[in-house]
Amino acid sequence: MNIVVIGAQWGDEGKGKIVDYLAEDADLIVRFSGGANAGHTIVSNGETYKLHLIPSGIVYPDKQVVLGTGMVIDPEALFSELETIEKQGINWSNRIRISDRAHIVMPAYKQLDREMDSKRRNPIGTTGRGIGVAYSMKANRDGIRIGDLSDSNFLDTLSKEERSFLDPYMDKLVSMSVNMTYLLEKHKGGKVLFEGAQGILLDLDVGTYPFVSSGYSASAGAALGGGIGPTDIDKVLGVFKAYSTRVGNGPFPSEFLAERDGNLEDVIREIGREYGVTTGRPRRCGYLDLVALRYACLTNSITSLVMTHIDVYDDMDEIKVCTDYEIDGEITREFPSTAAKLNRAKPVLKTFKGWKTDLSSIKEYDKLPQEAKTYIQYIEEYTSTPAGIISVGYERKQTMMRIPLWTE
Ligand code: GDP
Ligand code: IMO
Ligand code: MG
Repeated sequence: MNIVVIGAQWGDEGKGKIVDYLAEDADLIVRFSGGANAGHTIVSNGETYKLHLIPSGIVYPDKQVVLGTGMVIDPEALFSELETIEKQGINWSNRIRISDRAHIVMPAYKQLDREMDSKRRNPIGTTGRGIGVAYSMKANRDGIRIGDLSDSNFLDTLSKEERSFLDPYMDKLVSMSVNMTYLLEKHKGGKVLFEGAQGILLDLDVGTYPFVSSGYSASAGAALGGGIGPTDIDKVLGVFKAYSTRVGNGPFPSEFLAERDGNLEDVIREIGREYGVTTGRPRRCGYLDLVALRYACLTNSITSLVMTHIDVYDDMDEIKVCTDYEIDGEITREFPSTAAKLNRAKPVLKTFKGWKTDLSSIKEYDKLPQEAKTYIQYIEEYTSTPAGIISVGYERKQTMMRIPLWTE
């Protein structure tokens, strides 16, 4: 069975935590998109792991992981990340494979990434990790792929600087490389998890263009970038926070506003520890946006939602969600395709009663307070999608599975 896990908002929904939780039962974990712009946090038995390139299954001692075709890989960032996790006691040798079709992020790309952002008509607030440049080089058919490192004719075309950067990593990368189609073929019938990066609203096509990243964060990306075809995807899990966050620039209709919401943004940012894993930037915070979440379900064939961070609302008297947009005097549930229109969208808010209960140690859905269940049920009905997993804290064990996953 092939299960895809994607972010259903603007990234940082808790994909790393959920993939880690599910990976216990998986045979193989494949990351299918993005690069070191991502930051996936796992907290297990009090130890925190911050992963950028390595798939989240790596924390288990026996899991095989693959960095997929859809990824762009900075070798320096990769080996520094491997060194960090090794110091944390993770033995990764012989457990990591890299698609020979994945592209390499070269040092010059990072500088160029920042320069291009400052010159853009609409600066995005890129993480500056060279991601956009690497994907541009790929689309321009002038990129460097992992598989190229074993081709001496190709290596001869590289500049001296490029060679001296790549040389220390060359043998290691070549030994890890794999033609992943056939690796995935061997796992047919097994349990394979596909880990997305970013969130669908940062997807190049589906997202809030031009304020997006440049890979495929949508579930369809698992088919292209994960080594399988589209009908081999059995389930799609869309991870979302009980509220919304966004890092960097771009439209955010349900963002908290001081004049309407007082200090709610500061409160949520502190309780939810909403600071970026990769850049440390404070995340912008807002109400859960159901117009956007429904759009995520429609564009990604989400079979089950995964709600995280519901515990962050534990002390609230009331909780609001955005159910509609008011755009130019019209009420709509359609997610607009332009940033200009999204910027004019005013959220229509519906209020729910808070549960005023500490959810962090609750282990079963039935034990949740009725107010929390009412909030979840409303989201399920609105999106016509069940919420199969509920996360009530950052620890692996603070997770409730409502619907068995690895069964048909
Ligand atoms: P990702 O990019 O989607 O993997 O998410 P990040 O790791 O960037 O950000 C999610 C943050 O929320 C991390 O610090 C997690 O440890 C934390 N987290 C994940 N799930 C929950 C949850 O249910 N409750 C709370 N309070 N924190 C969570
Ligand atoms: P994870 O996988 C949140 C944002 C950046 C910027 C825009 C483009 O941890 O959810 P880029 O560096 O790709 O050119 O940046 O996208 N961004 C993310 N925001 N989570 C992420 O990944 C992100 N990856 C990129 O802040 O606004
Ligand atoms: Mg993140």
